[in-house]
Amino acid sequence: MSSPSKAELIHVFKGIPFTTRSSPELLKSLDNFDAREDDVLLVSYPKSGTHWLAGVITKLYNTQVTLTSPIEFGDVSKLEELDKLSSKRIIPTHLDYNMLPPNFKKKKCKMIYISRNPKDTAVSMYHYYRDNPNLPTVDTWTAFFDLFLKGDVVCGSWFDHFLSWEEHKNENNILFLFYENMKKDLPKIVKDITVFLDINISDDEIQDICKKSSFLEMKTNTEKENSDPNHTVCALTSNRKLIFRKGTVGDWKNHFTPKQNLRFEEIFNEKMKLSNM
Ligand code: A3P
Repeated sequence: MSSPSKAELIHVFKGIPFTTRSSPELLKSLDNFDAREDDVLLVSYPKSGTHWLAGVITKLYNTQVTLTSPIEFGDVSKLEELDKLSSKRIIPTHLDYNMLPPNFKKKKCKMIYISRNPKDTAVSMYHYYRDNPNLPTVDTWTAFFDLFLKGDVVCGSWFDHFLSWEEHKNENNILFLFYENMKKDLPKIVKDITVFLDINISDDEIQDICKKSSFLEMKTNTEKENSDPNHTVCALTSNRKLIFRKGTVGDWKNHFTPKQNLRFEEIFNEKMKLSNM
């Protein structure tokens, strides 16, 4: 059987490519989403460490919380489904700031944005494209590299996504995190998260959570679990086994040619002129 074409897997909404797992009707209806003051949003461009962050955050609470599937995942019945949840909601999303349901902004819900070196993000996404049947086929790294730089990949341009959120990084309800800092000193970042979320937890408990959130531990646990298709942190797959690949910093060096690196840096410097980070 031939694999589905790009047109069958991807549609473009407000200039941004989405998979057909995010229905146009749902995307249109997001503006009416009724946020709650105590919702927490986990925001990321794909392949930035979303599952890792979600794994940590859900372990921090000793009250009942529900990690939902991404707000943009599913069809129009999604809003009703989220509305029915009685517990505190932790809601992941890959939406850029401009597409976020306005109620989250109005109600000043807490939002955590996780970012990662875009070179590593590109490599991680390349492997994801290759392994994930919900995404179009890419033949080579070289072909994917060009698509990534053009923003012709699911969720659009990394640069636009990052910049749309970075503009709001000083707002009190937004916390910016970096994958590389989580790799360097996870307990410190977890501490920062607990302060941001007003969670009271001891240093010993933080150490324990960090141990349980290591790459190996998460990968092993996932391999033992049966994936529930309704419980997905990434709108691009329900198969958690596709997520835990290498979990390292700097894998881009094994993929980028010196020429690609130069081109990436040129575009990065040009696009990120507007960034303060
Ligand atoms: P790699 O493909 O480079 O291995 P997301 O959750 O946003 O889809 O991001 C997936 C990336 O985060 C993958 O990167 C995955 O291996 C990495 N990752 C997931 N859990 C991790 C953990 N506990 N520690 C370090 N990296 C992790």
